[in-house]
Amino acid sequence: MAIVKENSTEKSYFIKEGNDLLSASLIDLALPFKFGCCKGTCGVCCFKVVEGMENLSPLTKQEKTTLKAKNKNSFHHRLACQCALLEKEVLIEV
Ligand code: FES
Repeated sequence: MAIVKENSTEKSYFIKEGNDLLSASLIDLALPFKFGCCKGTCGVCCFKVVEGMENLSPLTKQEKTTLKAKNKNSFHHRLACQCALLEKEVLIEV
């Protein structure tokens, strides 16, 4: 299991490693992601990574394109429908 911690609420969510974060949020409805297309194009599921970017799957080309269109820095933001938590934990702000 891996851990997603939400910075503002200080809540922790235990998810299965390797699942994209949006899928994990659909399984555990307590996870705070909003969503739209689920394909990496709308940007609705964008969130800020506070710590643990290295524990997420690599940025996809689609994700990079959408973050740029939304004027979000890909060093600090990811799309929940496009990235997976591979190990350990990540601290996020939604
Ligand atoms: S839900 Fe549209 S980009 Fe993730």
